[in-house]
Amino acid sequence: MLIDSHCHLTDERIAPVAEEVIASMSSDGLSDLVTVGYDRESSLGGLALAKEHPHVWCTLGVHPHDADKLDDETLAEFRALAADPKVVGIGEIGLDYFYDLSPREVQKDAFFRQIALAEECGLPVCLHVRDAYGDCLEALKECEPMLKNGVLLHCYSGSREMVREFSRLDAYFAFGGAITFKNAKKNVEALAAVPRDRLLLETDCPYMAPVPYRGKTNFPKYVALVRDKAAEVTGMSAEEVERITAENTKRLFKRMK
Ligand code: NI
Repeated sequence: MLIDSHCHLTDERIAPVAEEVIASMSSDGLSDLVTVGYDRESSLGGLALAKEHPHVWCTLGVHPHDADKLDDETLAEFRALAADPKVVGIGEIGLDYFYDLSPREVQKDAFFRQIALAEECGLPVCLHVRDAYGDCLEALKECEPMLKNGVLLHCYSGSREMVREFSRLDAYFAFGGAITFKNAKKNVEALAAVPRDRLLLETDCPYMAPVPYRGKTNFPKYVALVRDKAAEVTGMSAEEVERITAENTKRLFKRMK
């Protein structure tokens, strides 16, 4: 069965149909999904959904876009909530120099504080990185001892060379709809370079819908289209990709049973 390792059920486009999405998981071939937090509200909303549904899991985190909103109160709240067994990681956190919606120094500060939180809670980190892979690698190297619970690069869009660099830190790499796009050469090359025991599938729904839904609302069930493309790129069968990526996801997100 498939696992969508990164989606946003709390997004305003998905929230109204979230219960239907969850109810149809098994008929869509999905065993589990992770709804990822990007601010306080989405983190709390994701946890509420995860607590209600056995195969929905969640992460808590503040996205680099909102890094300036990460205060001590939110961190303390996340620290307390992270004890819940349905919280599988801290994220999405990271650096985004494409939009630069928060000043870079503020982004870095929020990034480090949430890495420290993850270490404290014994959880892996789920990273959002855009146009900032070099700085991200430097930041991770600086706090390498704090990363022993695992690192996931969500929606990986770095180079194949950087796959090698991040692999030295034992990172996992998740790929989504972008690998099905026509101009996906760089992403496809990167995917091919990822060690098989470090590959995950995701949708990032409602964003990044794979072809033939590109530009439309994305849903967790479309992770099957990502699996098919990953099979084509790696030369594995779709069944093999599905099995391996599910194993990898559960190894990384240790609380997922
Ligand atoms: Ni996301």
